[in-house]
Amino acid sequence: MNKTITVAQIRQAAQEAFDESRNLKGGANADYIPYLANIDSNLFGLSITLLDGQVINIGDTDYKFGIESISKVPTAILAMQQHGTATVLKMIGADATGLPFNSIFAILLENDHPSTPLVNAGAITACSMITPKGDSDAKWKAIVDNITKLCGSAPQLIDELYKSESDTNFNNRAIAWLLKNYNRIYDDVPMSLDLYTRQCSLGVTTSQLSVMAATIANNGCNPLTGDKVFDPDITPKVTSLIATVGFYEHTGDWLYTSGLPAKSGVGGGVLGVLPGIMGIAAFAPPLDSAGNSVKAQAAIKSFANKLGLGIF
Ligand code: DON
Repeated sequence: MNKTITVAQIRQAAQEAFDESRNLKGGANADYIPYLANIDSNLFGLSITLLDGQVINIGDTDYKFGIESISKVPTAILAMQQHGTATVLKMIGADATGLPFNSIFAILLENDHPSTPLVNAGAITACSMITPKGDSDAKWKAIVDNITKLCGSAPQLIDELYKSESDTNFNNRAIAWLLKNYNRIYDDVPMSLDLYTRQCSLGVTTSQLSVMAATIANNGCNPLTGDKVFDPDITPKVTSLIATVGFYEHTGDWLYTSGLPAKSGVGGGVLGVLPGIMGIAAFAPPLDSAGNSVKAQAAIKSFANKLGLGIF
């Protein structure tokens, strides 16, 4: 990787990648969660946070959208911080499923593990592991405080999204109870599912997510606040999870073409981590068939390729 790139080159590449991607057609808003179907499809933002704390924002970077599956990343970090990386591997796993994010088949195939904290099954299990056990309010506070520290500012619950998801999350209810059958939910089942649903309904901006990504890239130290949010040994573990399953069944294609560990959410967000270099986030609601934002992928990929940032 070329490590001599200047901030001016980063700004220029980001602006070019944004301009190239802004008029891309294709994809559609997630429609299985009614709230998401009605978000303005033209919103588009790209943010980059460098490890010296500089933040580059282009487009709709102040718009708060549903974090959705990107929330699986901070809660995996919190589970590792509370229990250690080896315990998370033992209690959840780290395998890519190669299947859609909400796959029940994946649980049946690998009934010894929910596979990885970055698919729905493993994320519900991760919520069940957060301490203090049995105390929904305290667990929720731990989840939100962790996201706040990673971003350097607080996320905001989108009540309408939370209600919309809670009213329609029948597949996730099936996943949670199936995991219980395999002794892979380590707290109350409805509580664990509710925490997962609520964390998915948090509103964040691309600017906040890029700071979260930079904190991961910076071995757990938030480059804006200087806060040591998690232990440095977690960065390679969580980045490997992001790299192996961040785009679900499209992860291989993504990694092959971008070279960048990144995680998507059906709210239209994508978070990318370049360890030791920077954090990137983009947002645009229309998604491809695997639930990944079309424009956010295009912008991040183009940006990374222009500067030769791929990690391989
Ligand atoms: O559980 C769900 O289906 C949603 N709350 C989150 C799914 C998601 O974001 C998948 N990512 N691309």
